[in-house]
Amino acid sequence: MRRGFLLFTAVALFSLGQAQQQTLTIYSGRGQGLVEPLVRQFQAETGIRVNVRYGTDAQILAALQEEGSRSPADLFWANTAGALGAASERGLFVRLGEAITRIPVGFVPASRQWVPLTVRLRAVAYNPARVKPEDLPKSILDLPKLTQYKGRIGWTPTYSSFQDMIAAMVVQFGEARTRQWLAEMKALEPKAYASNPAMMEAIRSGEIDLGSSNHYYMLRFVRAGQQIGTYYFADGDVGNLALVTGAGILKTSKNPATANRFLLWLLSPKGQQYFASEVTEYPVLKGIVLNPNLLPLEQAVNKGPKVDFEKLPLDTALKLLREAGLL
Ligand SMILES: [Fe+2]
Repeated sequence: MRRGFLLFTAVALFSLGQAQQQTLTIYSGRGQGLVEPLVRQFQAETGIRVNVRYGTDAQILAALQEEGSRSPADLFWANTAGALGAASERGLFVRLGEAITRIPVGFVPASRQWVPLTVRLRAVAYNPARVKPEDLPKSILDLPKLTQYKGRIGWTPTYSSFQDMIAAMVVQFGEARTRQWLAEMKALEPKAYASNPAMMEAIRSGEIDLGSSNHYYMLRFVRAGQQIGTYYFADGDVGNLALVTGAGILKTSKNPATANRFLLWLLSPKGQQYFASEVTEYPVLKGIVLNPNLLPLEQAVNKGPKVDFEKLPLDTALKLLREAGLL
């Protein structure tokens, strides 16, 4: 049945004379494991051929720069709002239509040149056998006051989301206060981990008691039956920074209408449910069924600080981390 349907679709498209135009090229900073099932489903439903080139956000920005007007890319699907902000600042994106930008519950940039697709939240992971959430502070600024956990706090200075959080601290509190926070934290002798899964494992095994991470890392362990708690600071605190992923349509696109269709599909209930169910990120559409360990969407949207996600001063953050000897 399925084969017959696909054949019918192909014939229908051909008869409309659109067959040649129905190809989409995506440059994806998001991983293949996440993107491929979605792309396959989109292809099966629409008959549109999709080519995906994978890389880090930085590699894709460099490729787009190098290719210039010759780029075959229709879409840049990025892991970070910072990369999308950089692309829009370089004039690589077209402005998106209202039909797309009105869909998300929040996080749409003022430029309207890209659209958020999912949100991850910074949060504290902790061992519930050793940490009472009521003993944790309302702000990440006060984390250094937890002297009882000296030597038992973890962090991930080389990880991009941690660095984004430091950059957001610079925006909110200034460079001097952020430098001071790093010094205060260092006095607690935190253990540095190369990755979040490694830090989660250290919390699980009792090597440390808590650490600032991204919400989905805790959920992976919880889904595997492990006891790892998730703590959020007070609403608006930088320790709950929202990490926004999204995509924009490139000026080089020869198929902007098809690219538009793909974005609408990612923002549809079906696309958004995939992100919530399969990768436990927050959707940007209301009415999606969330994992019971996730916060209701209305609450999640208010957790992080109101900062310009496109323009976090990452260079300053990296400088401070280097000065502190953490990079
Ligand atoms: Fe991650």
